[in-house]
Amino acid sequence: MDVKPLWKRTATAPGKAILFGEHAVVFGFPAVSLAVDLPTTVTTQAYDREPCTLEGSAEAFQRIPYLRETVRCCGGRGLDVHVRSALPRASGLGSSAAVTCGLAAALLSQGSSPLDRAALAKRSFEAEFSAQGVGSPVDTSTLCAGGIVSVGGKGYGKSLWEIPATGGKGPWKVDRLPDPGWDWVVAYTGSPKATGKVVSAVGKTVATSGTAVVEKIAAITEKGIAALFKGDREEVGRLMKENHHWLGELGVSNPRLEEVAEAVREVALGVKITGAGLGGSLLALARPGEETRVARAFARQGTVPFIVKISESGVRLETN
Ligand code: PMV
Repeated sequence: MDVKPLWKRTATAPGKAILFGEHAVVFGFPAVSLAVDLPTTVTTQAYDREPCTLEGSAEAFQRIPYLRETVRCCGGRGLDVHVRSALPRASGLGSSAAVTCGLAAALLSQGSSPLDRAALAKRSFEAEFSAQGVGSPVDTSTLCAGGIVSVGGKGYGKSLWEIPATGGKGPWKVDRLPDPGWDWVVAYTGSPKATGKVVSAVGKTVATSGTAVVEKIAAITEKGIAALFKGDREEVGRLMKENHHWLGELGVSNPRLEEVAEAVREVALGVKITGAGLGGSLLALARPGEETRVARAFARQGTVPFIVKISESGVRLETN
């Protein structure tokens, strides 16, 4: 006989693509991040028993540190978690953060009251940081906020919340930026990236060579924020190319990413690595109406392109 769960909650989280400032954000400099309409749905059922399972497997749940850490940070036991996602795994598009935020939303839900997004963003980052040991709250805060946000720096728009300093880095201000209403093109290279390793390697580079490159990236991000406020599409594209160049200087590009970026640069206003790099995805901004042309250029390079819109909604709980 089927045992009835104590509760069942379904949360849907968007994906994310970092427009400017990845890596620099780990050092407290600003980043700009887009919540994009590539949804992940996390269904959680709670039972009065152990253990927690993922798709029915206790071993699968235990193998995934960010699931274990989310339960540790938000409380909960006897959970059965099911995930459906439009995101490729380890692609730099926020797949782990989507599961973390979706599960945290279910665990922190207060019945019919609206989600406390600031609390959710803090706990989700705590869980992700404990699982990964490095990093910034850019993924988790983007998914909790929806739309376009700045994370870190001095604050640039309407303040949403602040994430406390963690692991000697931060704190990070999280602000709402205007959405000019453009479509974007993201493309997964097919090579998964390892955020923890890449962030640690960049940390070593910065410790030995200094912060000059991340400061260049921070200056580009600040110009990018001003361009977003003006809705200046050409300037945003130009700054994406500049940001890509400095990510290369930071050591997170590789021949494959360069080959794809080079081919797409000819048809797009801007293209850059998005996320940790050394694999993962690229983000491009097309001229108005030329998104399909840019997506085709990505596809010709053997990557998997998605034309995406901004998801104005952050993670949300479906009403049962
Ligand atoms: O590749 P992703 O989606 O894990 O993004 C990493 C972004 C970094 O700035 C490189 C690290 C971080 O946590 O901010």
